[in-house]
Amino acid sequence: MKADEVREKYIEFFKTRPRNHKEISPSPLVLEGDSTTLFTSAGMQQLVPYLSGKKHPKGKRLVNSQPLLRTQDIEKVGDNRHTTFFEMLGNWSLGDYFKGEQLAWFWEFLTKELGLPKEKLWVSIFKGDKQVPRDEESFEIWKKLGIPEKRIIEYGVEENWWSTTGTPSEMTQGDIGGPDSEVFYEFTQVKHDAKFGKVCHPTCECGRFLEIGNSVFIQYVKKEDGLLEELPQKNVDFGGGLERLVAATKDDPDIFKIDLLKPVMDEVVKSYFSGIFDESLVYPAGPRIFSSNNEAEEFKNRTKKSVRIVTDHMRAAVFM
Ligand code: SER
Repeated sequence: MKADEVREKYIEFFKTRPRNHKEISPSPLVLEGDSTTLFTSAGMQQLVPYLSGKKHPKGKRLVNSQPLLRTQDIEKVGDNRHTTFFEMLGNWSLGDYFKGEQLAWFWEFLTKELGLPKEKLWVSIFKGDKQVPRDEESFEIWKKLGIPEKRIIEYGVEENWWSTTGTPSEMTQGDIGGPDSEVFYEFTQVKHDAKFGKVCHPTCECGRFLEIGNSVFIQYVKKEDGLLEELPQKNVDFGGGLERLVAATKDDPDIFKIDLLKPVMDEVVKSYFSGIFDESLVYPAGPRIFSSNNEAEEFKNRTKKSVRIVTDHMRAAVFM
């Protein structure tokens, strides 16, 4: 599918009955009037007061597509799935529906609207920690939706906890957050690379799995004494990377091949090989004379990586 089609389907799906969401405008990428943050890096940023209890003028069910910039991912750019700039599809419940509706609706969106094969989808739940118990409810909901137990994986705070500042112990006073439940697409054509660990699993970095959506259950606030306290309302904060969802519909693990990125990358490749970029900066070793196939292969991989980095950074710079 094309990105426009996926974005439109998602917004429509959440706007129509029985979901009845109202679409809200995305925040500007470079924030105005916010001295704490330079770039918008999560769709929920503009909603913090409303997730904490304030009444939103558009109601309790909201949806949008938010352009984001995540500088914290900058060192990962160059592989086939990380970018600093991306668009995140988001839906929110401000103290309205909770886990049951959210997980079922997102599942319906993936399997019916996008037509993704169920057997390629894996999910994760929060396994619990000192302060917050294991997310039994999400586990039961996923099981009821027909996901076999072996494809429901549990992780701790590093993977299945979300707040703008990190794990519960990293959160600063007044931050809101909660456990989350993610969905992953498995590219069965990608062989696991043992360099990333003995056994492959949804958050393995080898590239066989791609996270395509995250339902955060924002229900806690960090207090002065360092403990988490329940918010006055239970919220849903969902975010799914548009570029990655499109790649999943194509069953192609390289997000740079989707319609939003491919034309930019093609231009970068053209400029690169026509000498607009100074190759000596990228390959200080000098002219390309390969002494072995391995060396040629390495050169190819490095070129691919450079081209992806320039593609991402150029796109990010234009949107900024
Ligand atoms: N806030 C969560 C995220 O950015 C879900 O939208 O991942």
